[in-house]
Amino acid sequence: MPPAEDQPAPLVDSITVISDTTVEVKWHDHSPSRFHTFWLRYHCHCPDCKEVHSGMRRIHPDDVPKKLTLKTAEINDGFLVVVCHEEVHSIRQSLHWLKTFSYSKEDLKSRALERNVVYKTDDIASFEFDKICQSEDIYFEWLQAMDKYGLALIKNVPCEDGKVVEVGEMVAPVYETLYGKVFNVVSKAKVTNIAYLEVPLEFHQDLPYYESPPGLQFLHCIRLDPSVEGGANVFVDVFHVAEQLQREYPKYFETLLKVPATFQKIHDDGKRPSHFVYQRPHITVNAQGKVTGVFWNAQAEGPLQVPEEMVEPYYEAYFKFAALMEKSPSRIVYRMQQGECVTFNNRRMVHSRQAFKLNGGVRQLQGIYINVDDFKNAIQTQYLKRKSGQLVKRIGNQCYC
Ligand SMILES: [Fe+2]
Ligand SMILES: [Zn+2]
Repeated sequence: MPPAEDQPAPLVDSITVISDTTVEVKWHDHSPSRFHTFWLRYHCHCPDCKEVHSGMRRIHPDDVPKKLTLKTAEINDGFLVVVCHEEVHSIRQSLHWLKTFSYSKEDLKSRALERNVVYKTDDIASFEFDKICQSEDIYFEWLQAMDKYGLALIKNVPCEDGKVVEVGEMVAPVYETLYGKVFNVVSKAKVTNIAYLEVPLEFHQDLPYYESPPGLQFLHCIRLDPSVEGGANVFVDVFHVAEQLQREYPKYFETLLKVPATFQKIHDDGKRPSHFVYQRPHITVNAQGKVTGVFWNAQAEGPLQVPEEMVEPYYEAYFKFAALMEKSPSRIVYRMQQGECVTFNNRRMVHSRQAFKLNGGVRQLQGIYINVDDFKNAIQTQYLKRKSGQLVKRIGNQCYC
């Protein structure tokens, strides 16, 4: 996240050379940060090293001397300026930038805390469609609700064919998949996905057999006849469930980090045959052991293909995880009304649908997806626009931060 350069430079009490290769900056109102010469050199912000407009690095790894020992380090007009013995080059970084990207233990920890998701136990945060369209602040609140809680609802979205594409494009370009740009969930006789039947659906995420499964999923209820019974959606925050497994059953958690499940989508409807197979563990974590990704879709699982000694431990862990999901306190049941659109993070919320009966009526949903990183970008750029240093939550895209 780039620093707010138009703010006054952070105050520095002192700078101290700690070793040949390390300088310590003592911030006035903050714990000290230590910086290494290679780190400073390779991230030098002078115009020779960094392209001014794109912010991209101009130097090659070979341009950096293999040894870099400190000669001088001083603060000059809001910049830390460092010179090393091995070259004639003034390494420059703004104090803003250094404070923003300080990698002291405390700073790494406080940034990681800021990325923690929030678990919602009451109703879904809901928004009026026309207000989202008219007010950037309301639009931003809606994005934040999806960021914090993984789920939000928009009311009074006009029940027009393809309107959901317009709703999606307020965030980012629609992520087209094997189901096309917009998918219809309506009951029909010969189906390529069980979502089109009246049967209940188990908890799942959509398209876990993609390298990058969809981030946001929007489902717009464009028609729901009064005769239709049932069909409520159920959402569970699978990050919450994974963290519970980590706390209460660490051995099972470890197993689900290591053993790859198989996710697949194989069918041939004659028009566009599909043969997607992707093996990945159900849970991923970052270097601090925080959950960064969960993949779950029992209905789209293919044959487990792992060494035989892993098979039984895998299923033990798998069934425990599934059981925790079923009774998770993060469970939210919501039956959408005509004109409503649920917008949720497919990487974080597993969803299911209760059975329904059409009784001669029609139930039609239209859906779209948004790529997870496009979603993250939409929120972070809003924070920047508002000159807020706030960070997006862990969003399920397996990013380490
Ligand atoms: Fe789904
Ligand atoms: Zn430079």
